[in-house]
Amino acid sequence: MEIRIQTGDFTTVGADPLVLFHFEQDDRLLEVTGAVNDATDSRIGGVIEAGDFRGEHLEHLLLFPQGSRTNQRILLMGLGGREEFTAHRLRDATAQALRILRERRQFRARLPIPTDTEFPLSLEDAAEACVLGGMLGQYQFTDLRTRDRDKIKRFESLTIFSNEETQRLTGSVHRAKAIAEGIYLARDLVTLPANLATPTLLAERAKSVADQAGMHFHMIEVTEAKELGMGAFLAVARGSDEPGIMVVMDYQPSGEEVSPVLLVGKGITFDSGGISIKPAKDMEKMKHDMAGAAAVIGTMQAVASLNLPLRVVALIPCTENLPSGKAYKPGDVIRSLSGLTIEVINTDAEGRMVLADALTYADRYKPQAIIDLATLTGACIVALGNEIAGLLGNDEELLARIKAAGEESGEKVWPLPLWDRYFDLLKSDVADFRNVDGRKAGAITAAIFLKQFVPDGTPWAHLDIAGCVWEEKDRPLTPKGATGMGVHLLTRLLQDWQPLSRETG
Ligand code: BES
Ligand code: ZN
Ligand code: ZN
Repeated sequence: MEIRIQTGDFTTVGADPLVLFHFEQDDRLLEVTGAVNDATDSRIGGVIEAGDFRGEHLEHLLLFPQGSRTNQRILLMGLGGREEFTAHRLRDATAQALRILRERRQFRARLPIPTDTEFPLSLEDAAEACVLGGMLGQYQFTDLRTRDRDKIKRFESLTIFSNEETQRLTGSVHRAKAIAEGIYLARDLVTLPANLATPTLLAERAKSVADQAGMHFHMIEVTEAKELGMGAFLAVARGSDEPGIMVVMDYQPSGEEVSPVLLVGKGITFDSGGISIKPAKDMEKMKHDMAGAAAVIGTMQAVASLNLPLRVVALIPCTENLPSGKAYKPGDVIRSLSGLTIEVINTDAEGRMVLADALTYADRYKPQAIIDLATLTGACIVALGNEIAGLLGNDEELLARIKAAGEESGEKVWPLPLWDRYFDLLKSDVADFRNVDGRKAGAITAAIFLKQFVPDGTPWAHLDIAGCVWEEKDRPLTPKGATGMGVHLLTRLLQDWQPLSRETG
């Protein structure tokens, strides 16, 4: 989809449908909506006065003001009440608008950026929200369909209008595109089935992101992982014929080895459960078990397109979790990279195994903060459902920032307590600890397990995104399917990054 910026009189120029917004039961029209109202003999004011359009969030009305100066379709979109308004609502409303137009075979739109003296967002932020929302709602994955390709409807162009100089909007468009494209990449990777999205493919995609941005890229392959002693990662990887790969991406804008923010993404390209095999029902969904990895790769791409002045390192353990004659077994004791020994109770708790070695490896970068994203536990879905990710960690400031970034991005995260006394649940008779307990507090015990491997004194946050990576029903910003959860949140967090005020123990 092409994004264009134009200035001039949008009430009369051009033939593409116009998207206009209105706050719920507001006596005033937004400035740009008012301008079109004037050019259409008050047709907008007319339908509002008649009570045919209230402006509820996502409410819409299509008008055909033929014979007026604005002689083309107008799609009126509701923003809801002024009090509840957020950038997220504007993203949602724009996404919905473009979806409605596409259904009606209208593949182009013009959108005057909504502003007025009391509009809660700056012109720049409003433009960013419109472009981002418009793009996200148009995501579709069609690569693997061979039939009826000519019937696939694609939006062609979105033109944003403003009376201000176009220059004020180029930055907004650039920011929105960088985030949207990062999310598109993450969605593509999560959607690709496990026979195609192998650890090798993830590494290749990560490499092409790194190459394009001039990032340093390295793959720790099985031989090197063995030399290093990544026993926990290799225990999982050895059950599969697809070789496991620990991907390293290093975005270093200043060229200096300053302390990075370090991102870790769980990259289990298929989680069968291993010897502790999962039931057949819904097992196909376990191709999503690399959504943390996908989010991290998408974020790295966005960070580089935005030229953020911050070193960011990504560590992405990629492997399948399969049962085989070589697979690790319940009861095995595994020596991790940290030297700590783990008694495997359940091979389906493989995510924490591969993350353990990534967290230990992170220490060599002396990171200022570590953030890991993982589809780690079904228990987190039981606790928080499909719309909220679990947030745990050891540094309140980092956790608060992540929560705030989630509020801004519309990806809801909620804290769960990292209650250290539950470490007792992981006691083992033969090893330092075991990889699972029973069902109780599963999302918390998983995080406590991870904490054992976090380098001492390093602020760390863990996002359990198990419930949030796949949408079962169409929503304006997330068409049914992969959501790209995490990319927007992490990019916002890194955009505003400041050193954390204190070190944590
Ligand atoms: N990948 C799963 C977690 C998961 C479950 C993600 C459902 C998305 C949807 C993870 O590897 C897993 O199997 N966790 C087990 C842990 C248990 C054995 C302690 C779980 O949650 O059941
Ligand atoms: Zn599992
Ligand atoms: Zn898993």
